[in-house]
Amino acid sequence: MRTIKPFDLEHRERHQLLLSGVAPRPIALVTTQSKNGTVNVSPFSFFNAYSSKPPIVAIGPAISSISGKAKDTLTNILETGECTISTVTYAMTEQISLASCEYDAEISEFEKAGLHKRESSLVQPPFVAESPYAMECTLHKYIPLFEEEGGNGRILLLEVKLFHVSESVFTDDKVDPRKMDLTARMGYDWYCRAHGDALFQVEKPRWNGIGIDSLPENIRTSPFLTGADLAKLGSMKTLPELDTAFPQFPDVIHADSVDIELASGNAWAALYATIHTHNRSEKTISRIGQEFLHHNDAETAYQVLMMNRR
Ligand SMILES: Cc1cc2nc3c(=O)[nH]c(=O)nc-3n(C[C@H](O)[C@H](O)[C@H](O)COP(=O)(O)O)c2cc1C
Repeated sequence: MRTIKPFDLEHRERHQLLLSGVAPRPIALVTTQSKNGTVNVSPFSFFNAYSSKPPIVAIGPAISSISGKAKDTLTNILETGECTISTVTYAMTEQISLASCEYDAEISEFEKAGLHKRESSLVQPPFVAESPYAMECTLHKYIPLFEEEGGNGRILLLEVKLFHVSESVFTDDKVDPRKMDLTARMGYDWYCRAHGDALFQVEKPRWNGIGIDSLPENIRTSPFLTGADLAKLGSMKTLPELDTAFPQFPDVIHADSVDIELASGNAWAALYATIHTHNRSEKTISRIGQEFLHHNDAETAYQVLMMNRR
């Protein structure tokens, strides 16, 4: 493992090392308006949410390493106290990359990047019509970082005053990430897309789970179970009693080989097949236990994993 002191690196290397680990980062497409009315739009991935009552987000417009000057976004927000933030979809990624060029203050990145404006309700800067989710914000606090020592970081805490969310991204009144198709920033020139298999759900534990350390030793030290498998078992509310009647199958069950049933995701049929072929190796038992865990049935998985221990 490499151990690296930040100030042993050149600025660019330090920047990229930091951004490679703090990733993926959401991207704020920030629209501001200067005192003389020029509208500016630029992406910022030093961006996140920090409070929901009231909703507070922060962006980090650095002092430019190219020009040594404050970015127009920072100047405009400090002057006017307002901005909008539009989230960035995969379809917008090339355009926001183009909008990140450091054009002179009077040049419109909306025109350069072919983005369209949509009028805001509470603040002067418009938001981006191509984005399905936008926020109207006012400046809450400005925090310069190590300004006296030449530090280039700046934090703007922004209060969200209004959300605009497209009807098209809702499922059952909830914003559906599968419909948002958002882009995030990694290190160097890498981006990632929150789409397809990259999206998955993890059920939030509704109680304090027993923990992996409370599982029986044969499960905890199994060479076949992963950290994720153990965490699902450790999320159970209590350690189940060993059921001496386990397993009880439905009257009619069609089971092919263990491999075929597991490939089809049929945990019960795989269990039936393993018992009827007298193949109760730890590996097979673990694979079947894992299949129950994939179906989020930790209690049955536990009974399976303890089958050779009764
Ligand atoms: C995806 C992406 C994310 C970026 N994130 C930041 C950031 O968090 N902070 C920053 O200072 N610059 C960031 N940049 C660079 C700015 O967008 C760029 O300097 C831009 O020209 C600033 O525009 P302005 O001077 O009009 O405000 C990012 C660029 C891209 C493409």
